[in-house]
Formats: sequence, structure tokens, C-alpha cells
Amino acid sequence: MLARALLLLLLLVLVWQSKYVLGAQNQTPQDVTRSSFPKGFVFGAASAAYQYEGAASEGGRGPSIWDTFAHNSGKIKGNATGDVAVDQYHRFQEDMWLLKDLNMDAYRFSISWSRIFPSGVGEVNWKGVQYYDRLIDFLTKHDIEPWVTLYHWDMPQALEDSIGGWLSLDIVNMFEQYARFCFQRWGTKVKHWITLNEIHSFAVDGYRIGSKAPGRCSPPLGECPTGNSTTEPYIVGHHALLSHAQVVNLYKKEFQEEQKGVIGITLDSLWFEPLDSNSSLDKQASKTALEGFLGWFMDPIFFGDYPASMKITLGSVLPNFTLEQKSLLKGSQDFIGINQYTSNYATYNTTNGELIRTPYKDGVPIGDQVEQKKTKMDA
Ligand SMILES: *[C@@H]1O[C@H](CO)[C@@H](O)[C@H](O)[C@H]1NC(C)=O
Ligand SMILES: *[C@@H]1O[C@H](CO)[C@@H](O)[C@H](O)[C@H]1NC(C)=O
Ligand SMILES: *[C@@H]1O[C@H](CO)[C@@H](O)[C@H](O)[C@H]1NC(C)=O
Ligand SMILES: *[C@@H]1O[C@H](CO)[C@@H](O)[C@H](O)[C@H]1NC(C)=O
Ligand SMILES: *[C@@H]1O[C@H](CO)[C@@H](O)[C@H](O)[C@H]1NC(C)=O
Repeated sequence: MLARALLLLLLLVLVWQSKYVLGAQNQTPQDVTRSSFPKGFVFGAASAAYQYEGAASEGGRGPSIWDTFAHNSGKIKGNATGDVAVDQYHRFQEDMWLLKDLNMDAYRFSISWSRIFPSGVGEVNWKGVQYYDRLIDFLTKHDIEPWVTLYHWDMPQALEDSIGGWLSLDIVNMFEQYARFCFQRWGTKVKHWITLNEIHSFAVDGYRIGSKAPGRCSPPLGECPTGNSTTEPYIVGHHALLSHAQVVNLYKKEFQEEQKGVIGITLDSLWFEPLDSNSSLDKQASKTALEGFLGWFMDPIFFGDYPASMKITLGSVLPNFTLEQKSLLKGSQDFIGINQYTSNYATYNTTNGELIRTPYKDGVPIGDQVEQKKTKMDA
């Protein structure tokens, strides 16, 4: 299962790379066929609710932090919003025919929590539920497997306002209530569940840099109305991990035996290479950088606790797990999805000893650049 999940999520990367990989075996891109891939390889496409659905205030949907952020932060290029997006809410059948045309096996999409529970908890919005009924029925009828992400960055605004969203431990039980509803409603048809998408992205960009919803941070890392870049990313990551573990536990205890699906998580990470491949210090830097990016979440899920290197660096800023939480976390996955975008070099600053991550070595980028973007490095 692990391999299967990884394969789906790495599909785009693999397809892109295949021209190089296969080129080495004297094959051209035209030679790539299904049989070039291992048996059981799942071809699919993926999306996220706020980026795709549109119909942001239609059919009884409540706002999420992304509606608020897109409309009010002034941080989105061209002031774009997801109000309409690609209008998948209305046009999913056309979209799914495109997938069918491409002979795809699976479609990974996320459910908009606030379309099901406009206030995050409590009253169900049945019109929203029926949209996902129609989508999932259409997919299964046409032999496209639905892979469902429960959370792709879109905290219901009502919960952000009432408890502070991921900053509150109370979110764990609320996320569980929402997940339970989804398993009950769609678990007979959905056999692949992903609890959360890219905790690192929403913890760091949302609470350290402030470039993504809910746009919290503190100087000098960013300009935001409020927040604390030092502490909040780790509180958010902590509660997200606890929410993941509790929902996996719920699925395994109450649904898996009957529904026979699998559940996991999707994490994003860069890969790190030592800046000087002969330097043992830089080798250490690349290991520590990977632990601070992927290990932050992967270690608790596999071993029940944060990496030692993070504990040493962060001290009391990094929250602690109780023994009970550790055992709930340990092994809380049937598969892990990895979203891999690029790689960086790692080294230490010789003046102050800080870890440095950089895409450049002697001014030369680590790989071919696909897009020129001005981004601020988060060390
Ligand atoms: C985005 O919105 C701000 C504030 O309303 C406005 O000043 C700015 O001109 C807008 N930018 C674009 C590209 O429309
Ligand atoms: C962030 O929180 C820490 C720990 O409570 C505190 O020491 C620090 O001053 C806070 N920073 C800001 C910008 O509020
Ligand atoms: C690493 O050391 C070896 C042996 O001394 C040398 O041949 C090689 O060029 C070095 N590589 C780098 C990247 O410095
Ligand atoms: C976590 O536990 C360690 C070891 O007992 C302690 O040093 C640290 O201050 C604790 N951190 C927090 C945030 O409570
Ligand atoms: C290394 O640290 C020094 C002192 O804090 C700082 O001035 C310098 O910009 C840092 N270098 C890099 C490459 O981050």
C-alpha cells in the first residue's frame, strides 16, 4: 500500500522525469507506456477544494480561512480568489470526462469542511453533502477511484474565529467529528483517505511567513496583523499531528474492518544535499534540514515523537506529546504520500552556526528552473 500511494502522488514528478530516466536507456518519451511502470501503478490527478470548486458562497457553504485570506490579505497576486476557480462544483462531470479521456485510474480531491459543516461543527449542510455524493457516485460509476483528502488548508472561518483553528487543542475533537461524518457517508465508496495535506505548508506559510491563510506571523519573518512566528508553527503542527492520529485511530477502530479502505497522510518536503559533498558538517546539515522539514511530521507518525535534532534546536518552543499521544501517533498510517517539489543544499553559517538551506552552489541552481519566482527563504 505504501508503494501504491507514493506512486500516485509522485506521478507528475515521474512523468516529467521519465524523459530523462528512460532517456538513459535509449528510450524516447514516445516509448513510455503503461507497461513502463510497475504493476499496480495508479495514474491519477489531484486537486484541492478551494482551488477547484468555486461556488464559494453557494449551496449553503460557510466561509473558510482561505476565503477570508484571498479577499482581505492583499497578499494574493492580482487579488485572485477561489470564488469561481475552475467551477468544479458545477462542472465536475466535464472535468471527470477529461480524466476518463486520459485513461486515469484515480482522482484525488479534498472535501471543503465548511461546505459540509458551515460552522465547522453542528448543523450539516445537506446541499454540500449532496455535491460530494454526486461527485463520488460519478467517479465510481466510471471506474475512477476517489482518493479523498479531508483537509487541504481550508479551516472553517467559524472555528478560526471561535477557538483559533489549529492553535487550539479543541480542534482535535472537532476534526474527528467532521471525519466521522465523512467516513459514515462515503466510506463504502471511498477506499483511500488522506487526513491532512502538507502540514508543513500550512504551519510554516500560514503561521511563520504569513504568506498563506490564515496569514499570521511576526517580524522580522513577515508582515501580518497578528501572530507569533517563533511559537505558532509548532503549536499548529502539534495539533495537526494529534488530529491526524485521532482520526486514523477512529477509522481503524470503527470503520476499516467493514469498509476495507486505507488511511494515510500527505506530507511535502524538499530533499537536501550537503553543499560540500565532502564535508561531514554539511552532511550533518542536510540530515538536520530533512529532519526539520519531513521528520517534524514523519518521526511522530512512525516513532511517536519529534526528531532529537528538533528538540535540541527548539527547546521549550516545541510542544511535548504525552505517553498516550505518542502511542496513538506511532504507526498512525497505512501509507504516506510525499509531495516533492525540489531540492536544496544545506550547510552551516560559519559565523553564527545557523542552518542554511539554499538552492544555489557557487551561484549555480541545484537543477533546471521551471519558474522564476521571487521567494523569501525560510531558514
Ligand atoms: C487589489 O486590491 C487592492 C485593495 O483593494 C487594490 O489597491 C489593488 O489595486 C488591487 N490590485 C489589483 C491587481 O487589482
Ligand atoms: C512569541 O511567544 C514567545 C513565547 O511565549 C514570546 O517569548 C515572544 O515574545 C512572542 N513573540 C511575539 C512577537 O509575540
Ligand atoms: C571530494 O574529495 C575528493 C578526494 O579528495 C576529490 O577528488 C573531490 O573533487 C572532492 N569533491 C568536492 C565536491 O570537493
Ligand atoms: C518538554 O519536556 C522536556 C523534557 O521533560 C522539557 O525540557 C521541555 O521544557 C518540555 N517542553 C514543553 C513545551 O513543555
Ligand atoms: C551568517 O551569519 C551572520 C551573522 O549573524 C550574518 O550576518 C550572515 O548574513 C549570515 N550568512 C548567511 C549566508 O546567512
